[in-house]
Amino acid sequence: MHEELSTLKNQALAGLAEATDAGALEAWRIKYLSRKGGALSEAMKVLGGLPREERPAYGQAANEVKIALEAAFEERQEALKAAALAAELGGGALDVTLPGRPPALGRLHITTQSLRQIYAIYAEMGFQVYDAPDVETDDYNFGWLNIPPYHPARDMWETFWVTQATAGATTEGSPLLVMRTHTSPGQIRVMRERCPEPIRVILPGKCYRYEQVTARSEHQFYQLEGLAVGRGIRLTDLIGTLQQFARRMYGARRRLRVRGSYFPFTEPSIEADMDCILCGGKGCGVCKHTGWLEVAGAGMVHPIVLRNGGYDPDVYSGFAFGMGVERPAMLKYMINDIRYFYGNDLRFLGQFG
Ligand code: FA5
Repeated sequence: MHEELSTLKNQALAGLAEATDAGALEAWRIKYLSRKGGALSEAMKVLGGLPREERPAYGQAANEVKIALEAAFEERQEALKAAALAAELGGGALDVTLPGRPPALGRLHITTQSLRQIYAIYAEMGFQVYDAPDVETDDYNFGWLNIPPYHPARDMWETFWVTQATAGATTEGSPLLVMRTHTSPGQIRVMRERCPEPIRVILPGKCYRYEQVTARSEHQFYQLEGLAVGRGIRLTDLIGTLQQFARRMYGARRRLRVRGSYFPFTEPSIEADMDCILCGGKGCGVCKHTGWLEVAGAGMVHPIVLRNGGYDPDVYSGFAFGMGVERPAMLKYMINDIRYFYGNDLRFLGQFG
C-alpha cells in the first residue's frame, strides 16, 4: 500500500479509538470520511497526478482504506451506543422493573352513553333513529307544528334566531332560520319523507334556548323526540310506551302517572311522571317532596300537524313525546348540577363508563 495511505489509515484508526462520545465521533467522520474536504477525499485527488500505470493500484488501495475506515466507524458507533445504554441501566436512571405508565384512555361522554342506553331501549320497541337538522326554518320549528306567528305558545321557547325578522314582516312562509328550540320540527320532516308509510322513530338532537343557565337548565341541551304514526294508534299506546321506557331505564317496579298538559302540536297533551327513584314515592329533596319525577311531555299528534306532514287525520293517528337527555341522566346518577355536563372537567367526566 502507498505509504501516505497507510499513514492516513493508522492516524484515522488511532483518532477513532479516542472518540468517546457521539460528538467526537461525528467530528472524526467529518475529518476523515466527509466527501467535501475529508482526508480520504483529499488523498484521492493525488490520483490524477500519478503516472498512468500506478493509478489502478493507488485507487484500489484508497478504496480499501475507505472500506476499512467506514467499517471501523460503524463498529465504534455501535460500541458507543451500547456503552451509553449500559451506563444508563447501570446508573439506575431507568428502572426497567417499574410498571409502565398506562396511556390515558378516552371515554364516551355521559350524554352519549345516556343516548345510547335510550336508543337501545326504544330499539327493542321497534323505534328507528332519525336525524334532523339543528338549524331549522321558522316554519318547521313553529309554523307547521301549529304555532303560527304571534301565537302565545312561542313564548314557551326562548329562541336563538339565525336570521333577523325585519320590522313588520310576517314570518309565515318566510325562510327565517332558528337554532331549533326542540326536536319536534323533526316530526314534520320524517312525516313528509315517509308518508303514507307508518312511522315509529326517535329523533335525538341538540336544542338551543336563549335561557339563563342554572343548575337545571343549559342553553344547549339534548332532547329525544318519539313519533309513531299509523292507523288506530291510541293514547294508551303512548302511555304503555313511556311506561316501558321508565321501567327499562330506571327499574322494573317504576310506576307512571299522567297529567293533562298543553302543547300546540298535540291534542290531547299530557305530561308523564314516574314515582321518584330515590324515595319510591314517599317524598324527598330530589322530587321536591311530591313523590313524582317528570319523564316526558307528550300527546296525540294534533290533526293539523298530521295534515302538515301529509297524513289524513281522518285515517291516521299518532303519538309524540319529547324528553330531555341530561335531566334523566342527572336522576340516574344523582348529579345535582347540569353545568357539569359541558364544563369539560375530566374529574367529572371520568366517573362515567
Ligand atoms: C318540549 O320541548 C316539547 N317539544 C316536548 C314534546 C314533544 C311535547 C312532543 C309533546 C310532544 P319542554 O319544553 O317541556 O317540551 O322540553 C322537554 C324536555 O326537555 C324537558 O322535560 C327537559 O327534560 C328538557 N329541557 C327543556 N329545557 C331544558 C334546558 N334549558 N336544559 C336542559 N333540559 C331542558
